[in-house]
Amino acid sequence: MHCFRFPHSIKTSHTKMRNPSFFSSFFFLLLLSHKVTCDSHCDPIEASDVDRVQFAMNLEFLEAEFFLQGSLGQGLDSFAPYLAQGGPPPVGGAKANLDPVTYRIIEEFGYQEVGHLRAIYTRIGGIRRPLLNLSAQNFEAIFDQAVGHKLQPPFNPYRSTVNYLLASYLIPYVGLVGYVGTIPRLETYNSKSLVASLLGVESGQDAVLRTLLYARADEKVVPYNMTVADFTGRLSGLRNKLAMCGLKEGIMVPKELGAENRTTSNVLSAEVDSLSYSRTPPEMLRIIYGSGSEYKPGGFYPDGGNGRIAQSFLKKD
Ligand SMILES: *[C@@H]1O[C@H](CO)[C@@H](O)[C@H](O)[C@H]1NC(C)=O
Ligand SMILES: *[C@@H]1O[C@H](CO)[C@@H](O)[C@H](O)[C@H]1NC(C)=O
Ligand SMILES: *[C@@H]1O[C@H](CO)[C@@H](O)[C@H](O)[C@H]1NC(C)=O
Repeated sequence: MHCFRFPHSIKTSHTKMRNPSFFSSFFFLLLLSHKVTCDSHCDPIEASDVDRVQFAMNLEFLEAEFFLQGSLGQGLDSFAPYLAQGGPPPVGGAKANLDPVTYRIIEEFGYQEVGHLRAIYTRIGGIRRPLLNLSAQNFEAIFDQAVGHKLQPPFNPYRSTVNYLLASYLIPYVGLVGYVGTIPRLETYNSKSLVASLLGVESGQDAVLRTLLYARADEKVVPYNMTVADFTGRLSGLRNKLAMCGLKEGIMVPKELGAENRTTSNVLSAEVDSLSYSRTPPEMLRIIYGSGSEYKPGGFYPDGGNGRIAQSFLKKD
């Protein structure tokens, strides 16, 4: 299990100390060393507004590339190459075999992500696009890990509408719970208003994807002997396991986890008062790296995320 170190919070707390005698400093240092080595892996992190919003760009790049590639067979470089800021093109994305309605929805989502990236770039400043692994093999590895055995034939997200929706189920949700976690920690009006507006659309995308999946909940995902609901349950289980901070999701749940304990449907994932869950940047990294560790890149981000928050973990060891 990893612990965090927060050089910034240490500095701030120290300068805030009014009149530190030797003993209080000593005691403070003791507390500090305890904090340094034993902070919970679910705690919030210290970061500036700019760093937090730029951190979100890692997710926005992934969504933009996956949705644009999946619907149109072309990525960000065909629409707004300057937003990549010289970052490498993604590997392995492909046009998915989508039904006409899903195609239009995913295409719209892809364009929306371009807008999100541009909004952040314009108002806050951009980061380089990280290397993204959108290959079928990467999704195959995630799905194998989720179901606990090697799927035969290997899972291909681009093969069919339902496969693509299942693969998409992994993505905006992580962005959404990240934004829910980010907003209360922001300081300026500008970043709050930007992230609130990003959250609105992100949660809408997640709701649409989850509704499309819920409508197919009992369908077998051909050629596997598992239903859509089985897959979403396993994928959520994997997400929770990687993030290591509690149970946060699934399109079908036991009644005790449904809204007001009265339903097994879980089209919108939420906690006991039907409020959105939130995740911290390290939790998000553990999921999107597929490694369960914010220090160990992989999964969608073979070289890790960009921006100060993601990079700060990569420099640690
Ligand atoms: C993408 O992921 C697959 C499956 O893990 C891996 O074989 C491939 O090397 C990765 N590509 C890059 C560029 O990291
Ligand atoms: C498919 O799974 C069900 C239970 O989930 C089981 O009863 C059935 O035998 C399985 N069929 C095959 C072909 O594996
Ligand atoms: C639902 O059940 C949980 C325990 O599983 C309980 O904490 C919660 O208060 C219940 N909610 C309602 C609205 O009864």
